[in-house]
Amino acid sequence: MSRRPVNPSRRLADGGSISFVSSIKAKSQNSPLLSIGLVIVGAILLIGFIYSSSGGSSGDIKDVSKLEGGVSCTSEVLHALPILKKAYGDSMRKVLHVGPDSCLLVPSLLEEDTEVWGIEPYELDDVSAKCKGLIRRGIVRVADIKFPLPYRAKSFSHVIVSDALDYLSPRYLNKTLPELVRVSTEGVVIFSGYPGQQRARGGEVSKFGRPAKLRSASWWIRFFVQTGLEENETAGKKFAQASAKKAYKPACQVFHLKSYP
Ligand SMILES: *[C@@H]1O[C@H](CO)[C@@H](O)[C@H](O)[C@H]1NC(C)=O
Ligand SMILES: *[C@@H]1O[C@H](CO)[C@@H](O)[C@H](O)[C@H]1NC(C)=O
Repeated sequence: MSRRPVNPSRRLADGGSISFVSSIKAKSQNSPLLSIGLVIVGAILLIGFIYSSSGGSSGDIKDVSKLEGGVSCTSEVLHALPILKKAYGDSMRKVLHVGPDSCLLVPSLLEEDTEVWGIEPYELDDVSAKCKGLIRRGIVRVADIKFPLPYRAKSFSHVIVSDALDYLSPRYLNKTLPELVRVSTEGVVIFSGYPGQQRARGGEVSKFGRPAKLRSASWWIRFFVQTGLEENETAGKKFAQASAKKAYKPACQVFHLKSYP
């Protein structure tokens, strides 16, 4: 992946290599202090290398969840994507992701040959150039999901929502969840935290309006029934089967809802 705008390890490595070069130039003076300096610089370079090579293709997302200390269901979407493709097959062609860090997730999903759009439900503070580009092109939108979504009915094959519904009270959930269903044709996939889980974004109450409320599976299932939404059992079964086959255990609860007929 080419986009690594705020990778501290990369910066460290770059800084390291500059001092490395200047150390070599200065080495002709042959001071013992310089040799010590060289050893330290070497160590920094090595650490930088280890950090930057541990990222992999989903490095950005992993960095996000690592840096903030806790589980991010948005990074879980990335891990679950191959399994979701098994559960939904070729019908997964135009996906809307809704949730914080959508700007980071969308480019990673795009690499998988699927048309992907995003909604960032909260104001962004640190916007990378690439994210700005996605917003300018309308691929990612910043939109308050307490209000109707800025899309026509059935605009997407699938809507995937992560780390967003956990911050809504039932009063808003009552409106937001049917909205997500409205803009989909083949289903809505919900990633939500397990009760008791440490949230990656736990500290940002001011931004999210309230702390995450992590609800149990039975709470969600009751809520779906109350709001007239139906779980897609076929998709759920296929997802479970594909997960078992790949020994994949989602770090978040995953629910599959049917779209409106
Ligand atoms: C949500 O909607 C359901 C049914 O439409 C209703 O029974 C429930 O009281 C509502 N909850 C809130 C908090 O508005
Ligand atoms: C349920 O999911 C399956 C994929 O597993 C899909 O083929 C089917 O169309 C879905 N049903 C509804 C009503 O969305």
